[in-house]
Amino acid sequence: TAPLRVALLGCGTVGGAVLRLLDEQAGDLTARIGRPVQVAGVAVRRPDRHPEVPADLLTTDALGLVARDDVDLVVEVIGGIEPARSLILAAVEAGKSVVSANKALLAEDGVALHAAAAKAGVDLYYEASVAGAIPLLRPLRESLAGDQIRRVVGIVNGTTNYILSRMAETGAGFSEALAEATELGYAEADPTADVDGFDAAAKAAILASLSFHTAVTAADVHREGISAVSATDVARAAEIGCTVKLLAICERVAGEDGDTVAVRVHPAMIPTSHPLAAVGGAFNAVFVEAEAAGQLMFYGQGAGGEPTASAVLGDLVAVARNRVAGAAGAGPTAYADLPARPIAET
Ligand code: HSE
Repeated sequence: TAPLRVALLGCGTVGGAVLRLLDEQAGDLTARIGRPVQVAGVAVRRPDRHPEVPADLLTTDALGLVARDDVDLVVEVIGGIEPARSLILAAVEAGKSVVSANKALLAEDGVALHAAAAKAGVDLYYEASVAGAIPLLRPLRESLAGDQIRRVVGIVNGTTNYILSRMAETGAGFSEALAEATELGYAEADPTADVDGFDAAAKAAILASLSFHTAVTAADVHREGISAVSATDVARAAEIGCTVKLLAICERVAGEDGDTVAVRVHPAMIPTSHPLAAVGGAFNAVFVEAEAAGQLMFYGQGAGGEPTASAVLGDLVAVARNRVAGAAGAGPTAYADLPARPIAET
C-alpha cells in the first residue's frame, strides 16, 4: 500500500528523536496504522547543522514542503509563534492533518487553529505541548469528554520542580538551586520562561481550554514565578508538614452571573500527604478532579527528546489512523462560551 508521507518542520532535540523513532519503529508503525509512514522532508533553518539527516530530505523551504502534493501529514516541532502558525495554517488549508508540540502557539491561538482545522476537516493534535510524555490532553479531550471536570492542578514545569525539590532537600537558596539546574542542563541558558511561570502559564491555558471546553489563552492566566521563594519559605513549609510546588491550577468557579474558568500559576504550599508533593526532580504530574470519575493523577517525564517524541508519535499514529479510515476531523474541540479570567485566589 502507498505510504503516508510526513513533513517534519524543525529538527532540534524533539524532531531528532521523532526521526529516530520513526526509523526504528517503522515496521510496528506500519502494522499499527495499516500503511507505512515515510518522511517526505525535514525543514530546518541550517541544513549544515544536521549531518544525521539524509541530505535529500533536508530543505530550508518549510512552506514549499508543507504544500507539496506528496505530503499527507505535517509534524511541527519548531516552537514559538511564527513561522509555526503560518505553516500550520497552510498545512491545514491544504487538507493536511497536523501534529504539533507547540505550547506557546496553542496557548495563544488555539481557537483560530482549531477553527481552521475543523473547517478543513483535518486533525490538529498536540499532546506533546503539555507535560511531555504524559498522556494527558487526549484523556482530557476524549476519555473524560462525557464527564464534568471540576479542577485540574498540575506540576507542569520540570525545571522549577527540580529547583524547588533541591531547595527542600539541601536547604539551598533559589539562586544556588537554579545554578545547579543550569549546570545539569535542566534549565535553559535563559531560564526566564520556566522560573517566571510563562512556560507553566501556557500549559495551564491549554489544560483549561481542553478541560472546560472553552477558550483560555496564556493572557487569561494569573502568573507568579518562583524567584521570590526563599530557603526560609521552604523550611517553614516543611515545619508545618508542607512542601512548596509551582502549581498550575484550573478551576470551574460558580458565580452569580454564571460559571467562569479561573486559571492561575503560582508557588503553593501543599501537604506532604498530597500525591503532588511526592513529585520530585524534573518530573511532571497533573491531578484531575471530575464529577463522575473522581480523582485522577497523571505522572511522568515532562520534557526531553525521547519522552516528548513519544507523545508526538502517539499523535502521529492517531492522525494517520484517522486518515486511513477517512475519519479525519473527528478530533477538534468545540468551544463553549465559558469566560476565563486570571483569578489569583478562589
Ligand atoms: N522547560 C520545560 C520544563 C520543558 O522545564 O518543563 C518542557 O516544556
